[in-house]
Amino acid sequence: MTLPKLLDTLRLPLVGSPLFIISNPDLVIAQCKAGIVGSFPALNAREAAGEPPQLDAWLTRIKEELDRHNQANPDTPAAPYAVNQIVHRSNTRLERDVEICMKHEVPIWITSLGARPEVNEAAHAAGGLVFHDVINDRFARKAIEKGADGLIAVAAGAGGHAGTLSPFALVQEIRAWFDGPLLLSGAIAGGDALLAALAMGADAGYAGSAFIATQEAHADPIYKQMIVDSGASDIVYSDLFTGVAGNYLKPSIARAGLDPDQLERSDPTKMDFGTAKAWKEIWGSGQGIGAVHAVESAEAVVARIEAEFNAAQECLAGRLGWSRR
Ligand SMILES: Cc1cc2nc3c(=O)[nH]c(=O)nc-3n(C[C@H](O)[C@H](O)[C@H](O)COP(=O)(O)O)c2cc1C
Repeated sequence: MTLPKLLDTLRLPLVGSPLFIISNPDLVIAQCKAGIVGSFPALNAREAAGEPPQLDAWLTRIKEELDRHNQANPDTPAAPYAVNQIVHRSNTRLERDVEICMKHEVPIWITSLGARPEVNEAAHAAGGLVFHDVINDRFARKAIEKGADGLIAVAAGAGGHAGTLSPFALVQEIRAWFDGPLLLSGAIAGGDALLAALAMGADAGYAGSAFIATQEAHADPIYKQMIVDSGASDIVYSDLFTGVAGNYLKPSIARAGLDPDQLERSDPTKMDFGTAKAWKEIWGSGQGIGAVHAVESAEAVVARIEAEFNAAQECLAGRLGWSRR
């Protein structure tokens, strides 16, 4: 394992990944108390005009609740939390959000949609570690050159703006030159998939969709139930809704009045914010949700994945023992 010391105390080698709109302090706190890294996109914390930054209030609350938990449970301390920064020119809040995260000494920074040395330097100056998410080996090399500490390999089947590469191919290429911390993202919703990620050379898994169907998640109850009721064949990969290809739940597309099997390609020249708003109820999900059978607490999801992870290790040990005979 090459996970940094900070992640030594995790109950499971797992990060609850940032989910636009859905991740909130309740979910992050529950994930961290359950012993996995909890995270949220900084952009989820939005204040009305003229009000003080919501991000500041969220970070204060997360730190206070985790500190209280740690004092009451010194033997089972909470896992560290992470904040996701969208490092894209269109993110006009980036500089302000970086300053707030520095002030709070956020322990783990997850950067996506662009690698910027100055963001990495800010994180390091405040004692944080930076993980950058990448969909191919070229971006992985760039991210490390620009100062990221670790990588998140986003493979095919991931929720959100997924890559198209097989996790086997992606991890293999990155591990050929990178021996630092590596997380694997894409369709990890159960303990067997998590064990497979470690077997391939990742240090930890990175799971998003499994946590949409939790009581703490900020998502429509119909969305949560759709995750429970759906499987891999209910997911479609399309660029129609944001201009960048991502994985979405077909039943949510059908609910919005479109045929999920006949989606057009996006036409960037015709995109406008009026149309973008209409896609609010098109819901993202990765392909791994066949492992999700109920809307539960985040703690129950972590407990399920842990039990499956332990069972999968036993099962694998048995199989390997058998094949050696
Ligand atoms: C609804 C949804 C919203 C997401 N929003 C973000 C985001 O704001 N920032 C980000 O870095 N990744 C985002 N992702 C990607 C996830 O962090 C992660 O890579 C992905 O969910 C992992 O695949 P899985 O859903 O199959 O577990 C999102 C994914 C989903 C499903």
